[in-house]
Formats: sequence, structure tokens, C-alpha cells
Amino acid sequence: MPLINIKNLTFGYDGSDTMLFDNISVGIDSSWRLALAGRNGRGKTTFFKLLRGELPYSGTITGVPETVTFPCEDLPDVPEWRVKKELNLLGVDPDIMWRPMETLSGGERTKLMLAHLFAQDGIYPLIDEPTNHLDRHGRETIARYLASKDGFILISHDRDFLDICTDHTLVITRTGVELTQAVFSTWWDNNEARQAGEQARNDQLKKEMSSIDAAMKKNAQWSRKAESDKSRNNSKVSENHLRRVYEASRAAKLMSLSKNLEQRNERKLEEKKSLLRDVEKTEKLKIEGTVHHNRTPVRLNDVTLLRWGEPVAEHISLTVEAGKKISLQGPNGCGKSTLFKFLAGRGEEEGITVEGDAYLAPGLKISYLSQDTSSLKGTLYDACAERGADRTQFSTILVKMGFTKEMLYRDSSCLSLGQKKCVMTALSLCEKADLYIWDEPLNYIDVYLRREIERLVKNSEITMLFVEHDSAFAREVADYEFVFE
Ligand SMILES: Nc1ncnc2c1ncn2[C@@H]1O[C@H](COP(=O)(O)OP(=O)(O)OP(=O)(O)O)[C@@H](O)[C@H]1O
Ligand SMILES: [Mg+2]
Repeated sequence: MPLINIKNLTFGYDGSDTMLFDNISVGIDSSWRLALAGRNGRGKTTFFKLLRGELPYSGTITGVPETVTFPCEDLPDVPEWRVKKELNLLGVDPDIMWRPMETLSGGERTKLMLAHLFAQDGIYPLIDEPTNHLDRHGRETIARYLASKDGFILISHDRDFLDICTDHTLVITRTGVELTQAVFSTWWDNNEARQAGEQARNDQLKKEMSSIDAAMKKNAQWSRKAESDKSRNNSKVSENHLRRVYEASRAAKLMSLSKNLEQRNERKLEEKKSLLRDVEKTEKLKIEGTVHHNRTPVRLNDVTLLRWGEPVAEHISLTVEAGKKISLQGPNGCGKSTLFKFLAGRGEEEGITVEGDAYLAPGLKISYLSQDTSSLKGTLYDACAERGADRTQFSTILVKMGFTKEMLYRDSSCLSLGQKKCVMTALSLCEKADLYIWDEPLNYIDVYLRREIERLVKNSEITMLFVEHDSAFAREVADYEFVFE
């Protein structure tokens, strides 16, 4: 069976203070349906680039078949009938082949790209996060489609999705990679159990570490005292010679004993510190919204939403109650993001207007988290300044999200997709708003952070209107929902 063999792979980006891969070795059978998972910024997308030989590395990678990637800039040239066949399997009208890319919805675009990928023979697809922007139905269709294929690597943060369409799992962890011959959930459950054990052990270690630390301090006191006794005694001319010799040798012995002890304790501490490393942690985030005095700050009654004068959605009725979290649901392309842009006052540039009875409380402070991250420009501090956010608060949030200080000075083009989304989220968390409008906040965000954002929104006294296709989030967080037909 075709085996991709990775030996002693070591790689870190130039100018970055972290090594993404440090001497890793792993074998991958290219007929597996392999899930590639791991937290934001761990190097999943980079791993694809390394497999494709697009970046210089040390170590060896052999046996990689010819690869194709998703997403791709240009559609590969493949016989039409083959693409048609794949589109049929994906349950989408093959006529989309003839439509200009920019007129296709996110879901249609994804399906068209996948159809072109799998219409080729003898190639090895490297698929990077295909589910973002897809509604629930779209995710299920693509999951079933991929489950019927052989041999690919798939990156995703969607646990249910991975479980349906993969059979092996490779996880990039804090310290290396872990390969499991099972679906992601199996790895996750085992890992949770292991982490719980590790946490308990770590708590124990911390206790031991502090008692070693106390012992070291005591030791230092002890030897200092012996040393000062020695010098005091030396200065007493009245003491007899023998006693002085005895005291001096006792002090020397104590000194060397204490040095040994100290070295041993330091070694122990280092050992224990390194054991502490492998636990994944998520720091608690904060949000401080204000609750508007108007009990219903947004009221839409049978409103029509238009783009450049063309109706996008009709008969929209929706009420936002202060202090509630409201989930807006509906299939791809039904106008959810268009409505959000209008409410957030961003409609003008895209010709978005409304007709009908639309009320927004005057002076309502809105914080808008857009679906895409393309507006991020310059360094992270530039983005922070442009938004007028507090620099300290902004960097504190990002560090909690796992960013290093050095990354804050980097250009945002060097960030992973998930990291870009983290920056946008951090900017919104810095704002004190009456209403948070969040458009698919969890796209590209890793499972750990998803849970923390879920906890945060759920337990905060804020008003939020959101679209999120991750059903667990909507279920946990929403006080009520509106469905767009
Ligand atoms: N061109 C670059 N120059 C410097 N650093 C980079 C560059 N591209 C990515 N990085 C950094 O390398 C790390 C890994 O990035 P990568 O895109 O591989 O992560 P990922 O695992 O795919 O994350 P995500 O889940 O967010 O997509 C990140 O910390 C990122 O900021
Ligand atoms: Mg990535």
C-alpha cells in the first residue's frame, strides 16, 4: 500500500519564535480517509504545504502521491462528464458548472471545487476546512460524499463531520503528532480521559513542586546560617583552635550537602515542569456589554431586504429583546449576512437597503463580527488601533487565546485562518456594546476555544444576535430563535 513516510521532520517559519514540528516521524497510508486535527495555529495548513514541498524543512518526506488541494484558486481542467457525475453525487444541479464563480453561494462553490478534485484519477486530495460557511444540510451532504471516497487528508474542527467521513486521525498536539486508527471522537474521548488523569497528576506534581521549593528555601537558610556561624566563630579570638577547625569542617560539609540537595531539587523541578506541558488549557475570556434601556431595541415587521434595489429576502419579522441571545437560522444564501450588515450600518457599500417597518433604537451601540476575515490588514496592533480598541485588553485576550507576544507585531497575512478569526473576535470582545451581532463566529475556531466562547456568551448579561451553523452552540446559547425561510 502506498505509504507516505515522514522522518525527523523539523520546521518553523522564519522569524517566528516557535517550532511547529520538532523532529516528528509518522507513516501515513494514502488509502486512508485521514482526519488532520489540532488547535488553531498548530500547523495543519503548514503540514499540507510541507507534503507538497512548498516549504523548506529538515528531515525526509517520501512517497507522497500527486496532490491536489481544497480550496483552490483555479479549477483543474477535467472532462466535463466526470465533473457532472460528481456534482450529481453531491446532489447539486450540474448547471452550476457554467455559472461565474462569484455568483455561486459558498456551498455551491465548495461542491464545485470538490467535484473537480474527485473527477481526477490517481490524485491525492488535501482538503482544508471545507465546512465553513456551509449550512447544516450542506455539511451532511458533503460528509456523506467524502465518506464514499478513498484516500485523502481532511482538516476540520467539526467533530461530527470528521466522524462521518474519516477512518483514521492524525492530531498535531503541543508536543508532536498522534496517530489513531479510529475516528476523531474516539481520539477526543481517550484524550479527555488522559488529560483528566494528567491534570490530577499535575495537581499532585504542583504540590510536590511547592514542597520541594520550600525545602530548597529552608536548605538555603540552613547553609547560610552555618556559613555565618563559621565566620562569627572565626572572628572570636578567644575560641580554641580545635573548635574552630571542627566548626569550619562542619560548615563545609553542610555547604556541599546543601549544594547537592539544591541541584537534585532543581533537577526534580525541571522534570516535573516538563511533565506539566502536555495539558491543553483554555483561559477564561470576558465580555462586558451594556443592556439598552429600550426593552426591544430592534424591531423588524414584514421588512423586505434589497441589494442594489433587487429583493434579497422578504417578509422578515424579528424582534431583539434586550439581554437576550437570539439565533438566526436559515439555509445558505437566504440573506442572513445581508441583514446583519444592514443592522450594523455596513449596508451602504454593498447597496443594501430595506423597505417596510424597521426600527432601530437611536444611539444603539452595535459590535459587529463579520463572517469573513478579509478586512484584516497590517499588524495586529494596526487592526486594534483602527478599531479604537484598548491595546492592553486586546493583547490580553489574544494571549489567552494562545497567541505569543511576538505574534502581535506580525502582519496579519502570516496568521492561520483560525488565528485571524480569533483577532476579529477579540476586537468585538473589547467593545462595550448594547448589541453584539456575530456572523458565524465559530468558523475556523478550534474545539477548545469554541467551548470557551460558548461558555462566555451563555453566562454573560449581553444582547446578541447571531448566525452559527454549529448546532451545539445555537442550542446551548440561544434564548430564542428566528428562522429565515
Ligand atoms: N507565512 C508565514 N510566516 C510566518 N508564520 C506563519 C506563516 N504562515 C503561518 N504562520 C504561523 O504558523 C503557525 C501555523 O499556521 P497554520 O496555518 O499551519 O495553522 P493551522 O493549524 O492550519 O491553524 P488553523 O486551525 O487556524 O487553520 C501559526 O502560528 C501561524 O501564525
Ligand atoms: Mg489552517
